[in-house]
Amino acid sequence: AKYTWVEKNTCIACGACGATAPDIYDYDDEGYAEVVYGGDCNRGIIEIPDHMMNDLEDSHEGCPTDSIKVADTPFNAEGSHYK
Ligand code: F3S
Repeated sequence: AKYTWVEKNTCIACGACGATAPDIYDYDDEGYAEVVYGGDCNRGIIEIPDHMMNDLEDSHEGCPTDSIKVADTPFNAEGSHYK
């Protein structure tokens, strides 16, 4: 299983992730990326399904500021990644 969230403090709103994986990442009003898949709201607690793994990895590797975080276990379920 894979989970993902975006570190908005380092995101530069380059727009690459949403172009690569529009089902996973979208942008807030300021253009910073966030995880929208499954209503995750950038918490990193919703499991990304297998058929999206390529998009996930491409986005992860393609972010110029390494702001896309990916892990095998859920991130903070308390929603502290909100910004
Ligand atoms: Fe931001 Fe990286 Fe996406 S800079 S817009 S998280 S590709």
